[in-house]
Amino acid sequence: MAKETIQSIKGTKDILPDQSHGWQALKVIIRSTMNNYGYKEIRTPAFERTELFSRGVGEETDIVSKEMYSWTDQGGEKLTLKPDLTAPVVRAFIQHNFREQSPINKLYYIDTLFRRERPQKGRYRQFHQFGIEAFGSENPEIDAEVIAVALAVLNNLGLEGLTLKLNSIGSPECRSLYRKTIRSYLKPYLNDLSGISQRRFEKNPLRILDTKIPHEIEILNDIPNVSDSWTPEDKAHFEELKSLLDAMDIQYSLAPRLVRGLDYYTRTTFEITSSALGAQDALCGGGRYDGLVKTLGGKATPGIGFAAGMERILLAMGNFDSNINNTQLYIVGLGDTVRPVVVKLAEDLRQNNIRTNFDSLRRSLKAQMREANKAGARYAILIGDQELESGEAELKDLSTGDQEKIALDKLVDHINSLSF
Ligand code: HAM
Repeated sequence: MAKETIQSIKGTKDILPDQSHGWQALKVIIRSTMNNYGYKEIRTPAFERTELFSRGVGEETDIVSKEMYSWTDQGGEKLTLKPDLTAPVVRAFIQHNFREQSPINKLYYIDTLFRRERPQKGRYRQFHQFGIEAFGSENPEIDAEVIAVALAVLNNLGLEGLTLKLNSIGSPECRSLYRKTIRSYLKPYLNDLSGISQRRFEKNPLRILDTKIPHEIEILNDIPNVSDSWTPEDKAHFEELKSLLDAMDIQYSLAPRLVRGLDYYTRTTFEITSSALGAQDALCGGGRYDGLVKTLGGKATPGIGFAAGMERILLAMGNFDSNINNTQLYIVGLGDTVRPVVVKLAEDLRQNNIRTNFDSLRRSLKAQMREANKAGARYAILIGDQELESGEAELKDLSTGDQEKIALDKLVDHINSLSF
C-alpha cells in the first residue's frame, strides 16, 4: 500500500523557485534602503524564553494570550518560537550593552516569525517581516526618519495606493487617564460588549478600540479621542512630528483610534495600508516604545521602530518578472565522447558569470532543444562527435534562429563578447 504523503502545516507556505525571485529582489531593496538611512543588520535566534514575550509584548495581547508556539524543553525551560521581533532585539540591545557603546543605535532585521492566527489571505502562522528599531532618542525627528524608512522601501518597490495612518497614544500618564475615560464611557454598554471586550474592559480597555465587531464600532462612535488625554508634552511631540513629516512632503491621515495590538507602545503609533490588499491590508505597523527597554531589565532608553509583512508586500506587488535568474545559455551535447567537453565548457562559462545549463539525462537533440527553450536560454551550443572532430561547435541564437560555427577553444571568449 502506498504511504500517505506528508503535507506542510496549515498557515505555512513553501516559497517555490518561481516565487523566490520576488523575495530576493525585495531583500536587495530592503538592504540598500537600510544602508542609505544608516541602519545596521541584527539577527536574533529563532526561539527565546517565553518570559521575554509575556513581559515584553504583554500578557493580555492576542499574541501572548493565544498565538504563541511555546513548549517546555527537556531541561524544563519554557521557550517560544518568536512571535515578535521587537522584544528579541531589545533583549539583545540590553545583553550586549549597546547603550554604553553609542547614544544612538539604529538596527534593522529581515526575519521569520510565528503566530498561531487563523490563516487567510495575507495572514499566516509562519511569516516574514523586515523592520527597524532605533534606540536612544525620544525626539520626533527619529519618529519621522523611521516612518520615512518604511515608506522609502515601499516606494522603492514601486508600490502605489499607500496610506500612512498616524496617531499618538501618549505617555503612560496620558494612557492611565484615557483608560479611565474609556471605562466610564463604556460602562453603560458593558452588557452589550462581546466576552473578549468585557475582559479587556477590566485588563486593557485601550484594546477595545481595536474591535472589528460592527455593533461595538457603533458603540465606540462617540468615545472621546486619546488626544483629549494627552499631556502638553505628548501634544508638542505629536505636533512637531507632523510638522517634520510636512517638511519631508510625507502625507499622512490622522487615525485617532489606532492603538495597535501590542502593549509596549507609547506616543507615536502608525500603520501603512495598501489599497491593493483585502481585509489584511496593513503592510507595516510600528511606533514608539519608550518604556520597553526598562520593562525588560535595561536602563531606561527610548525606542521606536516598525515591522512590515513581506508576504503582504509581495501580494500587493503582484507578479514579479521572474526571468532575471533564468538560464542564459544551454549546452546541447550528443554522444558519449562529448561529455567531458560539455561539463568543462559549462564550468568555464559559469566561472565567467554566464548562467549555463546542460542536460544530465542524456536525452535526444530534440528533447534537449526543447529544454533549452523552456529554460529561457538565449543561446544554445551544440556539440556532437562531428563538432569534436572538427574542433568547432554550433552556436545558435534561440531568439533569431541564426547559427554560426565557433572554434571550441574560442567559445568562452566569443560568448563573453555577446549581449544577452
Ligand atoms: P505587527 O503589527 O504585529 O507589529 O506586525 C507588523 C506587520 O507584520 C503587519 O502590518 C503585517 O504586515 C505583518 N503581519 C503581522 N501578522 C502577520 C501574519 N500572521 N501573517 C502575515 N503577515 C503578518 C509588530 O510585529 C511590531 N513588532 C512592529 C514594531 C517594530 N513596532 C515597533 N517596532
